[in-house]
Amino acid sequence: MRLRKLRRTHNSGWRVARRCVIFFTVICLVPVFLVFIVATDHYIRPVRPMSFGMRKPFTEDRHIPFHDLKNKNLSAVAKRLDFRQKYLKKTCRILGLDKVGNDSLHKPNPWEYLINDKHHLVWCNVFKAASTSWMYNFNILAGYSPKFLRNSRTPPMTLARQKYGRPSLSALKRSLNSSLSFLIVRHPLERLLSAYRDKIQYAVPGSVHRKLGKKIIWKYRKKTASDSPVYPTYPEFVDWLVDSVRTGHSLDMHWTPIVEFCTPCMFNIQIIAHTETLEEDQAFLIKKAGLEKIIKPQWKNAGKGSTTAQIHKHYSQLTRSQILQLYHIYRFDFELFNYSLNGYLELGQPDSDPSKLLAAITMKDNNPNSVPQIY
Ligand SMILES: *[C@@H]1O[C@H](CO)[C@@H](O)[C@H](O)[C@H]1NC(C)=O
Ligand SMILES: *[C@@H]1O[C@H](CO)[C@@H](O)[C@H](O)[C@H]1NC(C)=O
Ligand SMILES: *[C@@H]1O[C@H](CO)[C@@H](O)[C@H](O)[C@H]1NC(C)=O
Ligand SMILES: *[C@@H]1O[C@H](CO)[C@@H](O)[C@H](O)[C@H]1NC(C)=O
Repeated sequence: MRLRKLRRTHNSGWRVARRCVIFFTVICLVPVFLVFIVATDHYIRPVRPMSFGMRKPFTEDRHIPFHDLKNKNLSAVAKRLDFRQKYLKKTCRILGLDKVGNDSLHKPNPWEYLINDKHHLVWCNVFKAASTSWMYNFNILAGYSPKFLRNSRTPPMTLARQKYGRPSLSALKRSLNSSLSFLIVRHPLERLLSAYRDKIQYAVPGSVHRKLGKKIIWKYRKKTASDSPVYPTYPEFVDWLVDSVRTGHSLDMHWTPIVEFCTPCMFNIQIIAHTETLEEDQAFLIKKAGLEKIIKPQWKNAGKGSTTAQIHKHYSQLTRSQILQLYHIYRFDFELFNYSLNGYLELGQPDSDPSKLLAAITMKDNNPNSVPQIY
């Protein structure tokens, strides 16, 4: 009897101790579990879109077989690139854009350049003009492995800037002196459309651009509009863009004119690649820089077919005066890189009020600095 009682007290004591252990274990494990959930949210949540904008929500790229170009005689390409460089210099001079000044058109802007000293390569990163491919290439040149780049959740641009700091003007000038420099350009209206589709139409939920989209709809959507999408339509976006330029707001880097973003008239840029001839221009560039062994064919280009269809679809929603207003905003990019409105203006709808066309032609921005001295 005494023995059994003793055993029972012993048993219940052990049970209490066991409960205590379980209790404290649970108390300790809950925060660990919570931390685990927070730290590894991407394992639990559905796959999030990769970073801001490096994701391609719509595929407009096609791969170019590298071996077709590798053994090609590139002398015709060299000639074309030389022609473009001379044309740029001449146009800069005619438009007075080669004179150093204080405003955004005349102040040399080294900020957007990436300098690879090891391989003597300088690039100004124009967004929406093969920038994804070349950001990748520059990350490879900086020593990141392809595997790391594939798995990294940090935006490629951030990774690149960790290796390539923002250069000072003197550092850029010094590097330009001893490097191969290049710039990739694209038809301004094609680039704008691509930026609109990537950043506004397919904006990442919660991003700055998603919020901007809501703001644009709130301000520019007609109350009578029915059956409208949840993102701003192209005409709404263009109305907003034109008004922001008129009121002197600075533009988003994805659609800032190249003339201000890279100030190409202020520097001696050797290779002006065009997306229209990107395969050949890149092949020449890689060969000239001696990088054939390092940069593997990561050939992407604006596919002609789908891009043409998109241009047709979106620019036919604009009025002709809107298209002329866009020309005004990108007029220097058009002229410096020899692009024209051919094929675009025809798509626009005739304006019901002819005075709008006149206003578009004589449009002035409120930002006095953005008008070059010569005008
Ligand atoms: C490339 O073609 C040009 C003429 O287009 C010719 O003069 C040149 O010799 C060729 N170069 C080579 C390496 O074949
Ligand atoms: C350029 O801008 C700076 C500061 O904004 C000003 O002090 C300077 O006078 C300006 N120079 C010219 C030539 O306008
Ligand atoms: C560029 O190089 C030339 C000679 O190669 C030199 O005279 C000039 O000072 C250099 N400029 C800069 C900014 O380093
Ligand atoms: C400019 O474009 C026109 C028409 O596309 C073309 O004929 C001309 O050769 C180009 N000029 C340069 C310098 O690329």
